[in-house]
Amino acid sequence: MNEWTGVSGKYVIITGATSGIGRAAAVQLAARGARIGIVARNEAKANEVAAQLNEVAGGGAVADVFVGDMASQRSVRQVASEILERCPRVDVLVNNAGALYYHRHLTEDNVEMTWAVNHLAPFLLTSLLLDRLKESAPARVITTSSHGHRAAREGIDFDDLSGDRLYGRRRLLGGAFGRYAETKLANILFTAELARRLQGSGVSAYSFDPGLVATNFNKNNGVLVRWNMLVMRPFSRSPEKGAETLVWLTDSADVPESGEIYFADKRSKAPSGAAQDPDAARRLWEVSEEQTQGSSSLQG
Ligand SMILES: NC(=O)c1ccc[n+]([C@@H]2O[C@H](COP(=O)([O-])OP(=O)(O)OC[C@H]3O[C@@H](n4cnc5c(N)ncnc54)[C@H](OP(=O)(O)O)[C@@H]3O)[C@@H](O)[C@H]2O)c1
Repeated sequence: MNEWTGVSGKYVIITGATSGIGRAAAVQLAARGARIGIVARNEAKANEVAAQLNEVAGGGAVADVFVGDMASQRSVRQVASEILERCPRVDVLVNNAGALYYHRHLTEDNVEMTWAVNHLAPFLLTSLLLDRLKESAPARVITTSSHGHRAAREGIDFDDLSGDRLYGRRRLLGGAFGRYAETKLANILFTAELARRLQGSGVSAYSFDPGLVATNFNKNNGVLVRWNMLVMRPFSRSPEKGAETLVWLTDSADVPESGEIYFADKRSKAPSGAAQDPDAARRLWEVSEEQTQGSSSLQG
């Protein structure tokens, strides 16, 4: 298998590049010579980012836009088929789009929104692009997790995948944050199981914690929560700093090809005990397949 030679000349698909960590990473990657496929729900914002990337790259057309809502499996499937049609290679897939929902909503697929956007969308998009990633090997799949995964101490509650009990039990932010923590734990378990199933394929899987970053995160949850985020700003990193580990995982030849799946500050790090449970990782894969109607071709 060929060695990783950096991101220059490679094709990187990135979700959630219209804001915050994803946007900062896309800018840095374009500056390093990558071609970027922006997956976004807001076409106007995505076109604005694409223009910025083209400018950063010196005026060439280095960015493509794929419009899709990660809360909708129909939309994720549409985006994936458009990517397969337009992109002969995909060297890196970055699953970065994410959100926290203070109130429980169901998507059109009848799935709780945080679970749908933060976990099922990465699972489905990765599954649908996997053959193209394998053809492009060496390739990388990188998923943005969070130190917040540690709050899901007891692991994923497989009896409450709809988040009904969790949101119902604690109505304050704790319930919503507990749900968010579960999805960020799911990002790591998904990465672990993906890495295991991809052994020997030339496709590596990584997750990372960007730290506490000043972005638009959590601004969808009303005035009080916005105010809370404002109070935390002085303790937060800039989006550029928050994107450093993501850029490193995408670009560097020093990233271990296998064995390490969780990173922070450009170093591998042990995730929580719950994130190191291989049975939970396997079970998560199985339920995710069910919730996305058998989208994965990878055998256990
Ligand atoms: N900020 C932090 O302190 C922190 C810490 C740990 C982990 N993270 C993780 O970092 C990732 C990026 O978050 P951020 O802090 O950069 O927040 P952000 O500024 O709010 O960016 C989130 C990105 O995700 C996109 N997105 C959200 N829901 C989507 C949907 N349904 N379909 C398509 N795109 C969607 C947003 O699109 P729009 O521009 O259209 O809203 C935006 O581009 C998330 O996975 C988050 O969990 C953040």
